[in-house]
Amino acid sequence: MEVLAKAYRMEAEGRDVIHLEVGEPDFESPVEVVNAGCKALTSGRTKYTPALGIQSLRQAIADTYPKACKPEIERVAVTPGSSGALMLAFGVLIDAGDEVLLADPGYPCNSNFIRLYGGEPKLVPVDASSNYQLTADLIRRNWTSKTQAVLIASPSNPTGTIISPSEMTAVVNTVEELGGVCIVDEIYHGLTYDVEIRTALHDSDNVFIINSFSKYFGMTGWRIGWLVSPDTYVDEVNKFAQNLYISTSAPAQYAAVSALTEPVLAECERRRLMFKERRDYLVPALRDIGFDIPVIPQGAFYVYAGISEFSQDSEKFALDVLEQTGVAITPGRDFGNYRHLHHVRFSYANTLERLQTAVSRLESYIENI
Ligand SMILES: Cc1ncc(COP(=O)(O)O)c(C=O)c1O
Repeated sequence: MEVLAKAYRMEAEGRDVIHLEVGEPDFESPVEVVNAGCKALTSGRTKYTPALGIQSLRQAIADTYPKACKPEIERVAVTPGSSGALMLAFGVLIDAGDEVLLADPGYPCNSNFIRLYGGEPKLVPVDASSNYQLTADLIRRNWTSKTQAVLIASPSNPTGTIISPSEMTAVVNTVEELGGVCIVDEIYHGLTYDVEIRTALHDSDNVFIINSFSKYFGMTGWRIGWLVSPDTYVDEVNKFAQNLYISTSAPAQYAAVSALTEPVLAECERRRLMFKERRDYLVPALRDIGFDIPVIPQGAFYVYAGISEFSQDSEKFALDVLEQTGVAITPGRDFGNYRHLHHVRFSYANTLERLQTAVSRLESYIENI
């Protein structure tokens, strides 16, 4: 937040800031989505909907999954972003004192969602040796009698790394054997490069799957996502949704139906290739100037980079880089406690040209420290 506030101050003073701290795509929502949203508004689709969402969208979401693991429509809940889905999943799973295992570094809001229900986030340090992901072995070693659930995010924010299909199977089986439940955040599915990614529904029907229209479909501001729950939790999910937010925005739901059609999917694929081109440029360019990136990120639009060559304090480093070069990056502290002083996150939700300018500014900065 400090970096962001400073970046805005500098821009207000007329400085050119290159935003590589952002957590959302730089593309607009696809035109078909915008048109469907406008049509929904002008045709009176402005009322509450059922708490779990309109049938056409729930069906369209269920149909995005491969035949072999397609969930029944009843298990699909439309939610206000994947944030809403995470709140529902933790809400139905967590009682006061329950522990949830999470990878550190990871998406910071999860810990707060867990605390909201009186639970305790247990951050498990992860590093390049496991692709910055939890493993079955780490889960076993950190499991206690209070552990209720495990959260996996693949691709991960902030590392962009992926859990392999075989490790995901091992994780799901281990958690089931230990008597807990897996919540799998698949929000960056779709945004993967050089690798096939598999939904955890392949491994079990007893997992909670989190997903969203925010990232792949470029719809962050519409606030729409989804949750697939095990069938034993569907009634409780429904009650939580009714009480927490009544329903997801109706126009956003109609817009989201159009997001799952061919022209929009083709546009999203075109954008994915642009993200890949940016990643293919940025990772080697940052490595060349001394950032430590031990694992090539295979998804999302983030690069988690070690800065030990230049600094032992990522917060100071990010603020100084911003001040000296106008490049805004996120210090590791935003993502956890483990070696956060030694890492920063770059987001490549910016054009290739701006990324190139950012790297050349960083290169001059590094030469002079
Ligand atoms: C891993 C992860 N999960 C969930 C979210 C929440 O996204 P939304 O509520 O927009 O779907 C984010 C946002 O950055 C994220 O990075």
